[in-house]
Amino acid sequence: MKNIMVTGGAGFIGSNFVIHMLEKYDDYQIVVYDKLTYAGNMDNLLDVSDDPRYTFVKADICDAAAVEQAIQQHNIDTIVNFAAETHVDRSIMNPDAFIQTSVYGTYVLLEAARKFGLERYHQISTDEVYGHIPAGYSSVETDNLEPRSPYAASKASADLLVNAYWVTYQLPVTITRGSNNIGPFQYPEKVVPLFATNAIDGEPLPVYGDGRQMREYQYVRDHCEAIDLVLHKGVLGEAYNIGTGVEMENLAMVEILLDELRLSSDLIRHVADRPGHDRRYSLDIGKIRALGWRPRHSAEEAIRVTARWYRDNEWWWRKIKSGEFKAYYQAQYGRRLQEAAPTN
Ligand code: NAD
Ligand code: TYD
Repeated sequence: MKNIMVTGGAGFIGSNFVIHMLEKYDDYQIVVYDKLTYAGNMDNLLDVSDDPRYTFVKADICDAAAVEQAIQQHNIDTIVNFAAETHVDRSIMNPDAFIQTSVYGTYVLLEAARKFGLERYHQISTDEVYGHIPAGYSSVETDNLEPRSPYAASKASADLLVNAYWVTYQLPVTITRGSNNIGPFQYPEKVVPLFATNAIDGEPLPVYGDGRQMREYQYVRDHCEAIDLVLHKGVLGEAYNIGTGVEMENLAMVEILLDELRLSSDLIRHVADRPGHDRRYSLDIGKIRALGWRPRHSAEEAIRVTARWYRDNEWWWRKIKSGEFKAYYQAQYGRRLQEAAPTN
């Protein structure tokens, strides 16, 4: 493995992964292949932009000719696919791009990997493919996939395609299924950066329903280390769950966030819930632990570090929140917030 194409590398986790890989390995070349949707952001890659081992290609993973050209031109031996539409609420509003990118786009990448005989195709997946998990149980990698949102269904479909290419063509694949990531460069539509930046501006924090849904918040760079480990030590054809193994209610996350920012919980507003909202995800992380990985941050540490990053990096998020984001925010929250009375 020397020449790695990181699709979706200008997004949140992809850019953190690129930075991690360039910091850790002197002799790897990284090609970021990204369409630059609303979620792609070249600011995320500023730290590596002058690195001679890094190249950027602006293109769509659904464009087979462009994918093949990039592979040939850069002598790619490995694809790590982060490219996806990633926000559940947007998938509820309009699923189309989710299906295009995660289903058709994953197929295009798999075909190209097969055609050029790549050493590895690695798929970045999510705990959401398992669906809602009842209390007392944690998902293992062999569980059935029971996605419930268009986003989760698009990701589960991609996992099934990846597995089919392993079984049918012996394409050397691996899959990682991560829980909710938080940290630098996360687009402020996701709950932690949305709430951190709203709170800094004294804006309300729209908590869906009772706020007692549970998520496993993990620090993005921990997740990147685990992906790196699976790339080097993972067993071909296998999937690996990556999380902290500890889930937390959303309201508990909000309290930690506000405590770190020294801001008041008066900002909390309970608003109309997300349709089909999965109440709980929970991962059994025994398999990735057996490879030797441990998360460096607890969920609480991850939330505190992330809150401080948003407090200290307004240059990064202010321009995002003043652009396309405003129309999205109005469509997603305008009515909900109007209908919600302050609760504290
Ligand atoms: P993100 O939305 O921040 O970034 C997605 C990136 O993909 C963007 O740079 C975007 O421009 C690019 N992209 C989208 N469609 C594309 C296309 N058709 N062709 C090329 N590039 C395209 O996403 P993220 O939060 O960094 O998530 C990355 C991956 O990790 C996704 O596959 C997601 O499903 C998975 N994941 C995310 C989380 C999380 O908590 N964020 C958790 C588990 C798994
Ligand atoms: P999100 O960051 O969208 O990730 P996902 O739904 O993919 O896990 O949401 C995390 C949790 O926070 C989820 O239970 C939904 C909840 N949430 C809110 O309560 N309010 C919000 O405005 C958002 C975006 C999410």
